[in-house]
Amino acid sequence: MQIARVTPQEHSEFLNLVNAEIRPGRAKTNAWDDFPLILAPENLDWMLAVRDDQGRIAAGIACLIREIKTSCGNLGVAGIGSVVTRPDCQGRGFSSALQNEMLSLLRRNNVPLGVLWTDQPEIYAGRGFIAAGWEVHVDIAETDLATGLDPAAEIRNFHTGDTPAVEVLYSQHSLRTVRLPGDSELLYNMPGTTGLVLVGPNNVPLASVFCGKGADFPDYVAEWSGPDEMILLLLNRARELELAHHVLVPADSESLVNLLVDRGASWFAQPSGQWVVLDPAALKTFCNSSGTTPAAHVNDPREWLGTVDGQGNPQPGPLGIAIWGFDSV
Ligand SMILES: CC(C)(COP(=O)(O)OP(=O)(O)OC[C@H]1O[C@@H](n2cnc3c(N)ncnc32)[C@H](O)[C@@H]1OP(=O)(O)O)[C@@H](O)C(=O)NCCC(=O)NCCS
Repeated sequence: MQIARVTPQEHSEFLNLVNAEIRPGRAKTNAWDDFPLILAPENLDWMLAVRDDQGRIAAGIACLIREIKTSCGNLGVAGIGSVVTRPDCQGRGFSSALQNEMLSLLRRNNVPLGVLWTDQPEIYAGRGFIAAGWEVHVDIAETDLATGLDPAAEIRNFHTGDTPAVEVLYSQHSLRTVRLPGDSELLYNMPGTTGLVLVGPNNVPLASVFCGKGADFPDYVAEWSGPDEMILLLLNRARELELAHHVLVPADSESLVNLLVDRGASWFAQPSGQWVVLDPAALKTFCNSSGTTPAAHVNDPREWLGTVDGQGNPQPGPLGIAIWGFDSV
């Protein structure tokens, strides 16, 4: 079996395979609408495929590498996605081989951590992927969100021109992905996603919420930025408009969870993805350099990122990491 990068000529064939096999039935958007960065032509170096005897793509995989701001400093992380095998080629080890090749490629490129999101963890477990970290899901359907909107302020739909201001708001989260130039433009303008912003008298966004991520995260606010009390107002509007009744809260943003719980919201925590430690030695050096004691069992992502305990409570690890909904691939 030969594995090679997806060529520019094959890009649309790969996209169509991903779209046909990975999209939920309800999807009104395409895979490239909801995952615009990992599937972009600029990311072709990180798309791998196996071909069949006729040269058609039989299986594929992709990843998106970005630095993330962790509690110990900036760290390179690979988000792995678009794992797909054509139905007539399944069960022949194509995906195993592609996953192995992608992980080798990442190790050769000194990427220390990988993450993916799946409801079939058994497909990846053999390669060291384990559910780790945490995120909080808050149900705001019955929450008392009503607070007074300053007469000088207004809530309106997000417009493309708001991108730079919202990018600045997002950059105030201490744990987040370091987006590259152009990333925000693509993420905040995804088809099938509605953004709301609270603006002051000069019409500049002071807070934002984004509902859904195309067909991903239905009924969820998948990203929010700005002061908590403004977020409450935006959540209230999102709920009035039937855009979302849940909020995804990544690690280290517990103040919003506490505020919402005080107002009657219910919540649960779950791991924030399936993680694999690709370079334990590099992670150790990274943690040591920030004065943090590294994990004892270096190959177990739970020992680094923490996890959710048997009572459903987050248990932190030495490495604080938050992946916002818009940054999942
Ligand atoms: C998931 C999918 C990519 C697997 O592709 P494949 O080429 O048939 O997979 P392989 O034969 O290489 O098997 C890969 C691993 O998954 C396991 N696996 C495959 N299908 C499985 C199933 N239905 N249930 C449990 N495990 C399964 C295999 O045992 C193997 O594990 P190992 O590598 O530890 O031995 C393919 O079924 C597919 O495209 N499904 C639809 C799209 C999808 O769901 N993608 C995953 C999104 S997260």
